[in-house]
Amino acid sequence: MTQKSGFGFYRPGAPASAGAPGSGTPAAPQPEPETAEPAYLSADAEIDLAHDDVATKVNETLARLDNELIGLASVKQRVREIASLLLVDRARERFGLSTSKPTLHMSFTGGPGTGKTTVAMRMAEILHTLGYLRNAKVHAVTRDDLVGQFIGHTAPKTKEAIAKAAGGVLFIDEAYYLFRAENERDYGQEAIEILLTEMENERGSLVVIFAGYADRMGDLFAANPGLSSRVPHHIEFADYAHDELMEIAELMVEKENFVFDEPAREAFDEYLTLRREKPNFSNARSVRNAIERTRLRQARRLVALDRPITKADLMTLTADDIRGSSHFG
Ligand SMILES: Nc1ncnc2c1ncn2[C@@H]1O[C@H](COP(=O)(O)OP(=O)(O)OP(=O)(O)O)[C@@H](O)[C@H]1O
Ligand SMILES: [Mg+2]
Repeated sequence: MTQKSGFGFYRPGAPASAGAPGSGTPAAPQPEPETAEPAYLSADAEIDLAHDDVATKVNETLARLDNELIGLASVKQRVREIASLLLVDRARERFGLSTSKPTLHMSFTGGPGTGKTTVAMRMAEILHTLGYLRNAKVHAVTRDDLVGQFIGHTAPKTKEAIAKAAGGVLFIDEAYYLFRAENERDYGQEAIEILLTEMENERGSLVVIFAGYADRMGDLFAANPGLSSRVPHHIEFADYAHDELMEIAELMVEKENFVFDEPAREAFDEYLTLRREKPNFSNARSVRNAIERTRLRQARRLVALDRPITKADLMTLTADDIRGSSHFG
């Protein structure tokens, strides 16, 4: 294991090889002494991309993404690609192979509850670990945080939001509301213009993520070619399949130290079938809400019991707890 303390990873402009003495990383060939001047690795040096401290931390975050989020294979793939790009970029810098920082503004398109906000937070962690962002914060906003009601109100609002997000991620939820096709003089356009300027100026110290439904985001980008060209990474979040939602439910239940007994599992499966056909179904968010209401019914059932309760009672969600839902009515 590598040492946990003293972040021994390379920062641009810092002396190369800040490898802590005694960290015993077998991969570091001939650690160079610390010097005051930036020292690049010699041309015949070798770097182990997979095992330095930063790569290890990034891999931990990627592993959490894998374990905590069901499905989303193509999303996870895209996140890995971006992480790889930055890892290689770091390695190149260590050899003095300077490049301009890549542009990492993104769009996350998909239906409600498909994991966009959750993935944005993981992305911020990864970009911070890789030294691309100063912090791992996600500042989430919607149209109302950026666009004013009156002339002169929009610029300060948008700039304030950007300032709050500085060094991290500005996550614009339902970003398509910034664009109103029916109103040319809508202040949303002004917010977009300011964002465009700042996205260019702050390249490398701010990542803007535009999130929303795919079709409506398409309209936003089609109407703003300048925006489209500054957002190189488009990541799509598909609706979850029935079995994935079932797995998500199991994961959420387990995380909260509950269990479905076997009849409960069947009941939840049926519940999902009913719920998915109804309006406002919001993928994993609906699953989370359903589990919360199930817990309410479990609590009601337990409090009404006229016998002492056990640990197993407290943990178990039963079919009755689920079938109490109005969707079965
Ligand atoms: N693949 C998944 N596996 C496990 N849990 C998930 C998954 N996707 C989403 N969740 C959970 O579902 C909830 C909703 O996810 P999240 O808020 O990230 O979705 P969203 O796409 O941002 O939704 P919205 O569009 O409604 O803002 C969160 O509690 C999240 O942890
Ligand atoms: Mg969200």
